[in-house]
Amino acid sequence: MKISVILAHPDQASFNHAIAVTAVETLQQQGHEVAFHDLYKEKFPPVIPASEIPRNAVLPRIISIHCKEIAEAEGIIIVHPNWWGQPPAILKGWIDRILRPGVAYTFAEGDNGDGELIGLLKVHEVIVLNTSNTPADREMTKYGDPLESLWKNNMLVSCGAKNFYRKTFGVIITSTIEQRKQWLSEVKEITTAHFPA
Ligand SMILES: Cc1cc2nc3c(=O)[nH]c(=O)nc-3n(C[C@H](O)[C@H](O)[C@H](O)COP(=O)(O)O)c2cc1C
Repeated sequence: MKISVILAHPDQASFNHAIAVTAVETLQQQGHEVAFHDLYKEKFPPVIPASEIPRNAVLPRIISIHCKEIAEAEGIIIVHPNWWGQPPAILKGWIDRILRPGVAYTFAEGDNGDGELIGLLKVHEVIVLNTSNTPADREMTKYGDPLESLWKNNMLVSCGAKNFYRKTFGVIITSTIEQRKQWLSEVKEITTAHFPA
């Protein structure tokens, strides 16, 4: 399968990097074709210009490449930390520029743009792997777990992905080496279960 892995974390030594590298290696071991994007390392340009908003906009080459890849992807894995209940801004910019009309969604004919989105992605499985320093129960009861609705609504409801799975690893700040090893084993298991050979 063609699988895109999108990582948003500026620190190469972060646990998020370890998660993404583990997922990529596991996918490759299963024989999948992997497109891996470390957005900070690649200096992905997250700010959408006005000229890019129209559906028929002429896109910069880097944006066209990402759009083509995501349109052809059969699986997507997204890895990022919880930053204020949101993805890092670079990944929000990737959403704005890549999950665009004609690539990730469209409207029914005759719709003037206020109707339901029709998803265009042919993705079977989306996995979102997050890290957090807030215990899971507090993230849910106090904040309502905003990352769940963000990703579920974007990928599954609006862009047409067939299945969605999300897991948050944490609490990171107080975790031991042993705990992190265990979490990386879980990443391997999750990746293999959703994307078998
Ligand atoms: C700008 C910023 C905002 C953050 N906001 C939150 C937050 O809202 N909730 C939370 O649990 N952790 C928050 N954190 C902590 C990160 O989630 C945590 O550092 C990260 O998940 C640890 O993974 P890492 O070792 O790969 O960086 C924030 C960290 C930064 C730098």
